[in-house]
Amino acid sequence: MTSVSASGPPAAHPLEPLTAEEISAAVGLVLADPRFDEEQTRFAYVGLSEPAKDVVEAHVPGAPVDRAVHLVLTVGPDAHVVEVDASLSEGGLRGVREVEGVRPGLLFEEAFGAIVALETNPEWVAALARRGLHDPKLVQIDPWPAGTFGSPHEEGRRICRCLAYVRDAPDDNGYARPVEGVVAFVDMARGEVLEVLDTGVVPLAPESGSYYPERQPSLREALTPLEIVQSEGPGFTVERGLLRWQRWSLRVSFDAVEGLVLHQVGYEDKGTLRPVLYRASVSEMVVPYGDPGPVHGWKNAFDAGEWGLGRMANSLELGCDCLGEIVYLDGVLTSERGKPYVVTNAVCIHEEDFGILWKHFDARSGRNEVRRSRRLVVSSIATVGNYDYGFYWYFYLDGTIGFEVKLTGILSTMGLAPGETPRFGSVIAPQLGAANHQHLFNMRLDMDVDGAANSVYEMEAHPVPPGADNPWANAFESRARLLRTESEAQRLVDPARSRYWKVVSSSATNRLGLPTAYKLLPGATPTLLADPGSSVGRRAAFATRNLWVTPYAPGERRAAGDYPNQSAGGDGLPAWTAADRPIVDEDVVLWYTFGVTHVPRPEDWPVMPVEYAGFQLLPVGFFDANPALDLPAPPAHCHD
Ligand code: CO
Repeated sequence: MTSVSASGPPAAHPLEPLTAEEISAAVGLVLADPRFDEEQTRFAYVGLSEPAKDVVEAHVPGAPVDRAVHLVLTVGPDAHVVEVDASLSEGGLRGVREVEGVRPGLLFEEAFGAIVALETNPEWVAALARRGLHDPKLVQIDPWPAGTFGSPHEEGRRICRCLAYVRDAPDDNGYARPVEGVVAFVDMARGEVLEVLDTGVVPLAPESGSYYPERQPSLREALTPLEIVQSEGPGFTVERGLLRWQRWSLRVSFDAVEGLVLHQVGYEDKGTLRPVLYRASVSEMVVPYGDPGPVHGWKNAFDAGEWGLGRMANSLELGCDCLGEIVYLDGVLTSERGKPYVVTNAVCIHEEDFGILWKHFDARSGRNEVRRSRRLVVSSIATVGNYDYGFYWYFYLDGTIGFEVKLTGILSTMGLAPGETPRFGSVIAPQLGAANHQHLFNMRLDMDVDGAANSVYEMEAHPVPPGADNPWANAFESRARLLRTESEAQRLVDPARSRYWKVVSSSATNRLGLPTAYKLLPGATPTLLADPGSSVGRRAAFATRNLWVTPYAPGERRAAGDYPNQSAGGDGLPAWTAADRPIVDEDVVLWYTFGVTHVPRPEDWPVMPVEYAGFQLLPVGFFDANPALDLPAPPAHCHD
């Protein structure tokens, strides 16, 4: 286990993560401005202001690096933010922009304030008392993003909605006993309870739901030891965010909203580093719930834009989140009061054996050739309330890139009356239900396949009608359709047609004379099931399509816009693509929506075994042949 220091000498590359010293300097520049009073100002977001792409690409080692910090501030309790860019190189504020009518992501301090305000609110206390709950220490209050439903409470305020759960001990799993029928609206910025809704008492579920080993009736026989040993250490190097492994080269950074971010992913081929991806991250995600009742019908969460996948990231130091010879990277973030802090071991980097990469047994000669697949794994895990999301990038020896989300944690539950079976969810334990819901992720993939200029084709397999050119009625062909504009490039998956999308270089060709390319191979994935005209449908319009393609624009970073919290909708992808810009031979950005529709199972309770969702990026004519022919055979001991 190795820790990499979060601070050090001045940045040597424009995409190096911000250090604690740089954050303090930027906060100092803000607070030196008379408009930003230290008592009133909250730092909702602080991150590297990434230089323009051409500046980054033109950087030569040893040249000075311009450093700037992007900050989103709130001053006072209204729906209003101030965006600031602080130049560390110039020692001043470059731009101050007031944005009216928007909210930042939920602030931790205010979420805690909402809990404190509720605990002494007479209506809340009375609602709990009607259920025989008198000890506030055992009542767990979860503040939720409130969404936008036209309620008068929402107007101009930063609000949350709060749900409650009962614990039988401080370390109990509260989700086993939801306090059904009670939901509170709280103005979290003012610490003011606006309304306590009580739709009627439902008895508490009878069972506890602990997943701790000491609370299980018995434990099975332990697994036999399986040690991952790399006697010569890991096969990769990582230095100030630059990660190199085998032929791969990439930069890793960590953002408060996006969490893990990759930059400048390239593959070294015949002595040249060939670009594949300029920047890749989860741009947004949404968890819409499918129960229409008054207590649960408003539930949806934009866990990136409303909470922040980086802010919610775990320190991967306590258990077995990763296995093997590991290097961790710290994440450096900023508190709402403007103090830098370190999320120790926020990112885990390690290698995994992944079965066989290629093989053939030649029966005539009796010769067996096999190569083992090994992948480089770069991962981070965020816990957002009840759910835990692991985000995993995989890099393979044959040029394949994979991304996978591992969904685990605890279901969002509802109390059921004895004998009640919910129409819009499942019974998961006696008198305990969980609503149908979805987890939909949007991945922003700024592709640079052999350079910035690329085009995107939709590829499909089509059967050919029987006839003179198909006498045996067996023929099918692969058809390519160029996606020419943003409106043409709003697409759905179609497994029956084996649909995928190919990103083609505008300039480079392989030895067969064909343009080099990578393809986005979608997994089996849904889109949003809520009506596109619903509140969540308008706010998460990105999730109504699996694919969007835009020409690169530096300000277009998050699929639902910069401020999804209590937004009216229409921001992000629907707004940008309304211009219907051309995307042929452009610097294209792919936005891919994928995820799962979750109809809860009894087996998901009390803690959910991992469910997987993801996609792959595969070279298509990017190489002249299998690029892993040069991989040496594995050592003999694996034949024993
Ligand atoms: Co789920």
